[in-house]
Amino acid sequence: MKIRKAVFPVAGLGTRVLPATKAMPKEMLTIVDKPLIQYVVDEAREAGIEHFIFVTGRNKGVIEDHFDRMYELDATLAARGKKAEMEILARDQPEAGAVSFTRQQAPLGLGHAVWCARDIVGDEPFAVVLPDELVLNTPGCLAQMIEAAGKLGEKSNLIAVEAVPDHLTHQYGICGVGKRHAAHGTMFEVDGMVEKPPKGTAPSNLSITGRYILQPEIFKILETQEHGAGGEIQLTDAMIGLSKMQSFYGVEFEGERHDCGSKPGFLRANIAFGMARPDLREGLRAEMKKYLEK
Ligand code: G1P
Repeated sequence: MKIRKAVFPVAGLGTRVLPATKAMPKEMLTIVDKPLIQYVVDEAREAGIEHFIFVTGRNKGVIEDHFDRMYELDATLAARGKKAEMEILARDQPEAGAVSFTRQQAPLGLGHAVWCARDIVGDEPFAVVLPDELVLNTPGCLAQMIEAAGKLGEKSNLIAVEAVPDHLTHQYGICGVGKRHAAHGTMFEVDGMVEKPPKGTAPSNLSITGRYILQPEIFKILETQEHGAGGEIQLTDAMIGLSKMQSFYGVEFEGERHDCGSKPGFLRANIAFGMARPDLREGLRAEMKKYLEK
């Protein structure tokens, strides 16, 4: 199963981190020195993804600019001999033609956002990556999933999962745990999924995180998917439909997951990613120590 394309749903309003996201897309919030969206594109690229599909909305044009070249900046850096900065820009620049943008015209939910990418994805398996969530690990979460997918047959679907405290299960998609096979490592067969189960009804404490590998048959289901939890067209509900026809596996990935769409998660991610950077680690540790002693 070759996964060439990844869909990034980036139309959300980012209301959990206002006022930062009043005029700026939440995907452009900076963790250390890169916008969130750059981290997830890098994660996808490391996993072998060749085409990056962004489902955007109004007010998100700057994401498109971020993945374009900035001629004035390039020319100025070149004229000033700023080689290190030029290398950073070149490193992050996707190849021409490797990015596509389409708009979700109304906030109808994650399932609807993914459906908006149907024509660009076409008839092949693809990844979905939610940019709110960063996973600190090498190899990245998507690379781990693609490696896991290699152990499965064609027409398999995968979701990345992580245990959350029982009192938080109602905030996530939750999956039940079915059979485990010795050859599959930490992977297991998914036994049922439910989007934001009412408190006390979750089938497990394993939450669906923001990484999926899906077969294109999901689009047919999304086309007629009814509104679910929160009145939105939910990807989880369409996956429940698909799981009746195809296999679904959960992958317990390695790495620390950060929910950067919340204020505490965003701050924690800045510290975690800063501390993981050899060039910043010691300075950051010294600064934090000062504040902790206050
Ligand atoms: C979405 C998904 C949910 C998943 C979550 C992970 O929910 O619908 O299944 O657990 O992302 O962050 P949202 O955060 O958009 O409410």
